[in-house]
Amino acid sequence: MALSPAFLDEIKERVSVSSIVGRKVKLTKKGREFLGLCPFHNEKTPSFTVNDEKGFYHCFGCGAHGNVINFLTDCEKMPFIEAVEHLASLAGLQMPSNNHTNPAQDNRYKMLSDIMEKACLFFQKHLFSDSGHHAREYLKSRGITGTIAKQFRLGYAPSGSKLVEFFKSQNIPFEPLKELGLIAPNNGREGFHDYFYDRVMFPILDKRKRVIGFGGRLMHKGEPKYLNSPDTVLFHKGEQLYAIPNALETIRKTNSALIVEGYMDVIALHSAGFTSAVAPLGTAFTENQLQLLWKECDEPIICFDGDRAGRKASSRALMRTLPLLSAGKSLQFIFLPDPFDPDDMIRKKSPEAFQEAINNAKSLFYAFWNMLLENRSVDTPERKAKLEQEATDLIEKIKDDRIKSYYLKAIKKELWQLEKDKKKQSLSFNDAQSILKPQKNSIEGRMLLSYLLCYPTIAQNFIEEIASINLNEYMLQNIKEKLLEKLFENPDIKQEELEQAVFEDFSDLKLPEMEMLKKADKTQEEINKDIRHWLHIYQIRSLEEECQKKVEEYNQTGDAELWQEIQQIKNELLSFSITE
Ligand code: UTP
Ligand code: MN
Repeated sequence: MALSPAFLDEIKERVSVSSIVGRKVKLTKKGREFLGLCPFHNEKTPSFTVNDEKGFYHCFGCGAHGNVINFLTDCEKMPFIEAVEHLASLAGLQMPSNNHTNPAQDNRYKMLSDIMEKACLFFQKHLFSDSGHHAREYLKSRGITGTIAKQFRLGYAPSGSKLVEFFKSQNIPFEPLKELGLIAPNNGREGFHDYFYDRVMFPILDKRKRVIGFGGRLMHKGEPKYLNSPDTVLFHKGEQLYAIPNALETIRKTNSALIVEGYMDVIALHSAGFTSAVAPLGTAFTENQLQLLWKECDEPIICFDGDRAGRKASSRALMRTLPLLSAGKSLQFIFLPDPFDPDDMIRKKSPEAFQEAINNAKSLFYAFWNMLLENRSVDTPERKAKLEQEATDLIEKIKDDRIKSYYLKAIKKELWQLEKDKKKQSLSFNDAQSILKPQKNSIEGRMLLSYLLCYPTIAQNFIEEIASINLNEYMLQNIKEKLLEKLFENPDIKQEELEQAVFEDFSDLKLPEMEMLKKADKTQEEINKDIRHWLHIYQIRSLEEECQKKVEEYNQTGDAELWQEIQQIKNELLSFSITE
């Protein structure tokens, strides 16, 4: 049976040489390579090297040289087909059936691949032509520069079946175009139309930079927001990752990768210098994709959207990873504040804020334990036992015995800690706030924002004071900034317009205080008084916090100057309570 070079390459990419050689030869890591005693000749000092990046072994003593398949055939004397079958099963690949592996088939792959390349060039050309004007504007509005557009080979699919016409003019038959999901038969009429039209195009490339599929985004509201190529002989959504050729070098260099949800997240991250970002292709993150990344780095970081869907996807990825864990190979997690995605973090916050989120990435065990604790109280023996049972059941899924036993130990320790620390009774899985600042009770912040939202004209009188306060909740602070920006642009903005603008950006925001306020039907005077009241509360609270901090510092240092400052703050606080 002749196997296609593409299939053999896929195997070589997926199974590292060291993992196979390591079963027979004791290897030690030396820089980028492994070193060991050559299994092909007798030696006392090691001259046999394995290089996973390049995918081969080489002996400086006897000249033995080859790839992972050669190792099995030459060293372990396996027949070729058996070696490939063995490696394919390790790589989670199906052996291709006979009719997929003849030279004619290879030519066909090449022909299909060439068509995809042509389509990509076609879309790229249209982005920079007259018809691509609004697509260019759109990309600009999303902060994508021309350089990035070229780097990711972004394009524009025009309306009016221009791709069908283009391929017709090139004498390329419809059948392969249809197979590749580039064109679709007309409904009820003869002929074909373009599958993608009036969309910004994100080509999907494999490791070797060959175009295998596309994602196309609408530039206005509508469904589906992203249209993706169907699975084809070239494109297997569950086995490939968006931007892998762009990210591979950094992933290898830094031994780390960022897995995000969307095309736009990847592009925003790469633009901001986080060049290890990749994304699944409009589907859930799969085992195959994880294995692909594990070949290149030890603990890829999952960084899905901060909304509920994103958090759910994180926990599903975590569950699916448990059985696959092995020594050194794991995942890490970043939980972004709701409803931010990485693109929002970079643009609405800053690249530094995202870097901080990376620095605070949580281990899989941490995420596992907090997920279990989410929304439950463990204040009775029965509830604790239930928690322990659930944890142990899940840990049973771990196949690696050593890791399993460490997890069991770690769980015991956490349970013991719960006994000691009653405060830990209901931790939230959403650890997002801790990325930025500890969450504090900020009723006054929520009230002030509600007044600003309901009575923008009256609240204008307090705008400077409101601008200068620092809301402790990350999301509130962002809403405040948005509100002020809107009011600054248009001081006479209508209440409804303001409200709409804010809730458009923060669709998950719940502000019950605002609903109550709307119903309360207050007079202008009352509103003025209330706003003053809440500003007042804010001042008191921040003074109290400042005082508390100084007291802690004083307790450690005994600094006399601090003592003075503390007394001053206390006096100030006292005078506040009197005026109130
Ligand atoms: P999101 O809706 O979070 O999109 O979907 P996004 O990447 O943040 O995009 P922008 O910022 O609104 O442009 C995340 C990913 O899910 C897939 C795409 O891969 C998208 O990047 N998706 C989403 C689809 O395949 N189809 C859809 O209709 C929506
Ligand atoms: Mn998103």
